[in-house]
Amino acid sequence: MARILVLGGTRFLGRAVARLAVARGHDVTCAARGVSGAVPEGVRFVPVDRDDPAALTPLAGQRFDAVVDVTRVIGHARHALAALADHVGHWSFVSTVSVYADYATPGLSAANTPLLPPPPSDVDGPGPGFRWYGECKVVIERLVRERVGEDRSFICRAGLIVGAEDSSNRFPYWVRRLARGGEVLAPGRPTDRVQFVDVEDLAGWLLHAAGTRLGGTYDGIGPTMSRAEMLAGVAAGLGVADPRLTWIDQDFLRAHDVREWWGERALPLWVRLPESAGLMDRDVSASLAAGLVVRPVADTVRATASWMSAHPGDVPQGGLDPADEAAILGTWEAERNA
Ligand SMILES: NC(=O)c1ccc[n+]([C@@H]2O[C@H](COP(=O)([O-])OP(=O)(O)OC[C@H]3O[C@@H](n4cnc5c(N)ncnc54)[C@H](OP(=O)(O)O)[C@@H]3O)[C@@H](O)[C@H]2O)c1
Repeated sequence: MARILVLGGTRFLGRAVARLAVARGHDVTCAARGVSGAVPEGVRFVPVDRDDPAALTPLAGQRFDAVVDVTRVIGHARHALAALADHVGHWSFVSTVSVYADYATPGLSAANTPLLPPPPSDVDGPGPGFRWYGECKVVIERLVRERVGEDRSFICRAGLIVGAEDSSNRFPYWVRRLARGGEVLAPGRPTDRVQFVDVEDLAGWLLHAAGTRLGGTYDGIGPTMSRAEMLAGVAAGLGVADPRLTWIDQDFLRAHDVREWWGERALPLWVRLPESAGLMDRDVSASLAAGLVVRPVADTVRATASWMSAHPGDVPQGGLDPADEAAILGTWEAERNA
């Protein structure tokens, strides 16, 4: 049994790490405000507001085998490292693929992708619209490596995280859409690349890293797949046989104001090519070799769908609404038949 401290743990990934660690018999502490949600059962919760530089002082004398930090705020990371690093065996920092400066080139890896520069010196955390998000993570990565040492720090650059408790409308959009049935607007080409990671797989890998004292910098994403494979996986997870997919060319979608990635009028997980061809086509062979284990898409879909039906109030909405989707499908068909 290890003593594990999660800095976070009140939502999505941090909660999944804490829950899995408890299930595996570890002694788990979570430190957060408790604003985003509750920690899983079996966890010791220490309420702290990390905006206060001294917030983690009560934990400073305690020894932890491993820390997992999900912060986006430079000051939060700096104070946590100052308070805790001397008494910790291993430090995982959940970073993001948003640290990269190149989204256009497919097949890059954590070892060879250029990084964004640090933010201006007066920026401590992301602003509205995720401004400076990646840049702040770049700085935190460096702070962790410097303070803890390369060999004891695991920098995990997460890609799109999906699964139960996902509060974005990205993966859930496709689960909801295929469950609804009828003619489904599938964006781009069936061979376009899609890449994400199941929240439980990522949590499992973070615990594996802690348990094996894995050091280094890796992408936390599953292997790339085609969009056709993804939609087939969603259908399989829902038990939908032969979904009716109509593939619509990206230029047509753009001309009809369908938006990329997420948000209003967006088809989630669809990005502009070739400009964003590297975003969901990264080489993660090093991550898989270092212990990341990836479940089938259908399993992720089952977990997502069962969370969606158990917690309808928490399920994110958004994306292209059904009336807009039907209108675009109609126009596409009419133009092809003209
Ligand atoms: N979701 C994705 O697709 C995606 C993609 C790439 C990377 N990532 C990265 O993956 C990680 C996801 O982490 P997550 O799912 O656990 O969600 P998160 O939204 O990053 O969670 C932030 C955690 O920090 C705590 N926190 C925030 N402000 C705090 C404060 N002032 N004092 C103390 N605690 C504070 C929050 O708890 P309270 O609010 O309760 O205090 C919460 O538990 C993040 O590092 C994110 O950058 C996510």
